[in-house]
Amino acid sequence: MSMKNILCIGAGYVGGPTMAVIADRCPDIKVTVVDINERRIAAWNSDELPIYEPGLEEVVKRCRSRNLFYSTDIPKGIREADIIFVSVNTPTKTFGAGAGKAADLQYLEKTARSIVEHAENGKIVVEKSTLPVRTAQAMSRILHSNTKNLKFQILSNPEFLAEGTAIRDLENPDRVLIGGMETPEGEAAIEELVSVYARWVPRERIITTNLWSSELTKLVSNALLAQRVSSVNSISALCERTEANIDEVTGAAGKDSRIGPKFLKASIGFGGSCFKKDILNLVYLCGHYGLPEVADYWEQVIRMNEFQSRRFVGNMLAAMFNTVADKRIAIFGFAFKADTGDTRESPACSVCLQLLEEHARLNIHDPKALGNAKLDLEGATGEINYLEDPYEAAEGAHAIAVMTEWKSFRELDYRRIFDSMEKPAFLFDGRNILDHAALYEIGFNVYPIGKKALTHF
Ligand code: UDX
Ligand code: ADP
Repeated sequence: MSMKNILCIGAGYVGGPTMAVIADRCPDIKVTVVDINERRIAAWNSDELPIYEPGLEEVVKRCRSRNLFYSTDIPKGIREADIIFVSVNTPTKTFGAGAGKAADLQYLEKTARSIVEHAENGKIVVEKSTLPVRTAQAMSRILHSNTKNLKFQILSNPEFLAEGTAIRDLENPDRVLIGGMETPEGEAAIEELVSVYARWVPRERIITTNLWSSELTKLVSNALLAQRVSSVNSISALCERTEANIDEVTGAAGKDSRIGPKFLKASIGFGGSCFKKDILNLVYLCGHYGLPEVADYWEQVIRMNEFQSRRFVGNMLAAMFNTVADKRIAIFGFAFKADTGDTRESPACSVCLQLLEEHARLNIHDPKALGNAKLDLEGATGEINYLEDPYEAAEGAHAIAVMTEWKSFRELDYRRIFDSMEKPAFLFDGRNILDHAALYEIGFNVYPIGKKALTHF
């Protein structure tokens, strides 16, 4: 096979790691990642990568300048590419029709238009960003509006990687999904992309479908995962009222092979750039296609998620004598999950804003996300301190609220922490990761999620 040129437009959380692994696994393919954001590209070319992801740095160092390149020269990238991955952001629309639900496709459309402008031959264009079903149709219309008589094949190849495990997910995916047109040209394009992944992914895990199934599968996969978390979180509320224990309930329920043990962990709620956005997108689509009952059904997954963080703050207030005003609260973790610095839609942010409204003073500690936390809380009113050291964060605090399941939080000296705190000392474990009985023994009043609180009064 001749040396292919792959271009990825959009050097974010999806495009960055995905292209690094493709370059790593396909040394005979030249992979170029472009972005309009010069600072981001400069960071990809430096020792300080713009995103934190375990294992990413090693892969990038191995491939950079060998067959992996980062650039802001988008026209050149487009001219040279055989396959173009489009991995730009598709946030929820904040204005106009569909505001708050529909996907904002302006970045995608601009990308399609620059492909039309700069391409000198036909190409395979791959949708990597999560998109509403049938976006490929619009994409195709824009691409074929070219006056150069160029033919493009559109493929959908949604990314299922989860942050924090991106490299592992990319190197050993459960499945790779490729959707294309059901025409000979479409099938040839699918095969071309299959041949890239087949270098390291077993053929039976590469699934090919029609375009619309592939686009919809991405939304549905995320909706089903988020629904699982909301279902468990809804039951955690019931557990707290009935002295059932959520970990025992999900542990036993998950033993049923039809249910399965994964993704059943109760929490303060799901965050991340995908779940909420994709469900809103699904809700909008259902409304658009005249299915309001289906839209309501999925919207409830988001409502339950919002309820969970409100409920958590409500529990904090009730436990702390109905007021946190002027009390110092140590926030352990701001990232939306462990092993990432990403804070997009993090439930920690919602909890912090609610606590600030109650006039609490916050000491926020996170091993990787303090920079993003500062940006997210810019403009919030109240006292907020950002601390690299968890012991300093807890010093003089009335309570600790665990927001992220960082492993390092399990390894702290909680006796030392307890001794430095105001009494009575409260600990609210929004992730159920700590040893609650041991903390109670030390003297903490412990409030897990979906379990009986352990209190000294
Ligand atoms: C998700 C999908 O997993 C991935 O396939 C898709 O490509 C992008 O969206 P990501 O958002 O990176 O990935 O993280 P994920 O591990 O799915 O966690 C999402 C949120 O759910 C996190 O806030 C996490 O803490 C929470 N969660 C997850 C729970 O609260 N309980 C669980 O049992 C699992
Ligand atoms: P994701 O999580 O989907 O990867 P990110 O926001 O992390 O989303 O990354 C998307 C990237 O796409 C950003 O770095 C943004 O600058 C880039 N981008 C958006 N529009 C364009 C465009 N027209 N051309 C090139 N890059 C773009």
